[in-house]
Amino acid sequence: MATSVELGATSVTKKALMATTGVVLTAYVVLHLAGNLLYFAGPEALDAYGALLHRNAGVLWSARAVLFASFCIHVVLALDLSMRRQVARPISYGRYERAASSLGARTMLWTGLVLLGFVVYHVLHLTLGLFHPAYAPGRVYSNVSVAFSSVVPTVIYVVSMIALGLHVSHGALAMTQSLGLTLRRERLRALRRLSVALALIVAVGLAAIPITALALALTRGR
Ligand code: HEM
Repeated sequence: MATSVELGATSVTKKALMATTGVVLTAYVVLHLAGNLLYFAGPEALDAYGALLHRNAGVLWSARAVLFASFCIHVVLALDLSMRRQVARPISYGRYERAASSLGARTMLWTGLVLLGFVVYHVLHLTLGLFHPAYAPGRVYSNVSVAFSSVVPTVIYVVSMIALGLHVSHGALAMTQSLGLTLRRERLRALRRLSVALALIVAVGLAAIPITALALALTRGR
């Protein structure tokens, strides 16, 4: 039978793994935001960026494999840790409890589940072209513009980006704690502000794309 020390060590390993995969996923979201902001530079810039990503199949599939593995590990461990927390009375660190009072912390599981659904829908929608009225491989700008020319997908994306913002606002802080980076109180306060700033940047930056595309479509339709 496993001792409580062994169970504790397993839980610490899982949290470290969740934090590491969280770093990979956050880095991807930041890079994805940077690339997608080229939408505002126009069709040539965004399509050229899309072509660049697809130029080297080896690099593309390696990045996809790392991303997919990180995503699966992160989701499975989140569900596992959440189920363990339900059955055992949580024994938290004082600092963690303070962080746990934020809206982002209280809604981590729910925003995570929204993001799980969103990522599946998003890849089917904008990478494979399902549920898309006029998908054309390689024409990223046009695919985005057409996708968000109607209200329903735009609302789905914007709600998902609110979930992303809430998730990152706590996740970015929690992963630094799991990796042991928040030893001093001042550092914790600074990291909390940085996490909220990062969350706002990715959520507002990404949500601006479908909102702008819808606004442009509605303006043109008049
Ligand atoms: C409003 C927000 C977003 C927009 C406008 C957007 C846009 C896009 C577009 C246009 C593509 C296809 C790129 C291409 O064909 O080359 C794509 C692919 C993808 N996006 Fe997003 N994205 C958004 C949010 C997100 C978020 C929050 C995540 C992750 C949490 C994400 C993960 C992915 C993944 C995994 C792919 C597939 C990449 C591949 O082909 O390997 N996206 N996105």
